[in-house]
Amino acid sequence: MIYDVIVVGSGIAGLMSAIEAKKNGAKVAIVTKNNPLKSNSFMASGGINAVLSSQGKELDSHIEDTVKGSRGLSDVKTIEYMCTNAKRIIYKLKSYGVQFDSDSDDNPKQRPFGGGSIQRTCFVGDKTGSAIVSSLLKEAKHLGVEFLTNNFALRIITHQNQVSALAVLRKADNNVVLYPTKALILAGGGYAGIYKGHTTNAPDCTGDTLALALKAGLRVVDMEFVQFHPTGFEKSGYLVSEAARGEGGYLINSDGERFVDELATRDVVAIEIYKQIKNKKRVFIDLRHLSGDQIEQRLPSLYKSAHIQSGVDIKTELLPIKPVAHYTMGGIESNMVDTEISGLFVCGENSLNMIHGANRLGGNSLLEGAVFGELAGVKASMFAKKTELLPIDYNQVIPDIRMIDKLFEGESTINFNALRTSLGNVMFDKVGIIREYKTLYEALDYVKYLSSQAAKLHTVDKSKANNVEVSSILELRNALLISEAVILSAIKREESRGSHQRDDFKELDTKLNKHISIRLVGGKLLKEEFKVNNIFYNILQKVRGLIINK
Ligand code: FUM
Repeated sequence: MIYDVIVVGSGIAGLMSAIEAKKNGAKVAIVTKNNPLKSNSFMASGGINAVLSSQGKELDSHIEDTVKGSRGLSDVKTIEYMCTNAKRIIYKLKSYGVQFDSDSDDNPKQRPFGGGSIQRTCFVGDKTGSAIVSSLLKEAKHLGVEFLTNNFALRIITHQNQVSALAVLRKADNNVVLYPTKALILAGGGYAGIYKGHTTNAPDCTGDTLALALKAGLRVVDMEFVQFHPTGFEKSGYLVSEAARGEGGYLINSDGERFVDELATRDVVAIEIYKQIKNKKRVFIDLRHLSGDQIEQRLPSLYKSAHIQSGVDIKTELLPIKPVAHYTMGGIESNMVDTEISGLFVCGENSLNMIHGANRLGGNSLLEGAVFGELAGVKASMFAKKTELLPIDYNQVIPDIRMIDKLFEGESTINFNALRTSLGNVMFDKVGIIREYKTLYEALDYVKYLSSQAAKLHTVDKSKANNVEVSSILELRNALLISEAVILSAIKREESRGSHQRDDFKELDTKLNKHISIRLVGGKLLKEEFKVNNIFYNILQKVRGLIINK
């Protein structure tokens, strides 16, 4: 099958881009490794930010809050683009069937979220992400976007630095299949799933599309910035939406004391909770002062999940929580969804387009995914219109075919699940909320050891049909590659900024307003490079005159 545009990923960014490209006349397919409903967007509960009233001072405040939240590592022009388009995007989502909680005039209601100087988070109870993804999926299917599910993206095939095809592993029979395409959009989500056991993400959200980009020669940037959501269930790490604090929930410790502004930015709240836990105190979210109606109408999912997972009735009892890895600010280097490869576009959590910097504001990820997904769809379909399909160099995929064949050849003595669990634990213990040289280097050594073990993995089942072992092994190897990139970047950033806090470099260093980038060199080694972000400060000081807070 031949396409104008292939999209990898079915979260909000992937679906928006596919819909837009399809509406622009392109033949479009979405490639997903699993069920298209499985994405971080689907899990994002609390809401999506947008200024809906006047577009003057309030719009400026959205831009300024986002810039401040990023701790000096964002590009104000990109942020302006996102915030300016937010209102239009909300009404576009409504036109696709998203039923935002609304007032009697059908205007979406808005709740406060952390780091927001005014209420600007639109919501569907506390299941905003799943409501949006379900509507977008329906719209995409209605328009005739094709879904190539259970295909694991293996390699971007290029001809003279332009996309010519996508190679995938078809999980049904473990054959490598090539889909010729004129344009490709990567929207495969982030990598917080590498913190398995300590994350709100599904364990397979481990950065496959970032690994794909690295293998295609692109840079990944700011990988050290992993956002710890302040509130995951204490036992399972399952998300307790920020909506709970937006609706007025308190954070209290086991002495019954409040210890932080619940609506400070996530980096600040997560660190304060971490300190309480280090001081041997438990932390709880307290919703007992909210009315029963407010809980049932605004937090229905949390009400149910607290019952099911913790046996807690949040109307009358405290819910124990802890910070867990939730979102990754690092991503594939891009400039307004463009990359260094012609015909390749990136959007959503797997991309780095200078919005979130060192710390993302809650409610800005669904917005970023929607706005830049739409832009990627427009750009990719326009690109496809003015180009021909290019020759496909099959040699580029031969190493992948050989590597997959080898997985079926040997015997495996290594425990796959132990490797995967160990990765999650070492990342949380040594590359967690507070970091330092010693533990980062220990993590690096251990991840290299795990990689050497993963290189020796073979399938246990030797039949090719419906054998998911191969994709699991490839996914683990990608997760290890991405983990190494995170650690190398964390070692290199000798300061504390936003979600990256170093015990041995406690201050934010204003001279260090830099991005750290990683490239895969010679097939294996990760090499660090630097790109100083002068443009950001110049623009910021001239246009907005803002002082960047720590
Ligand atoms: O807490 C939440 O509902 C998550 C929202 C977000 O990550 O933006």
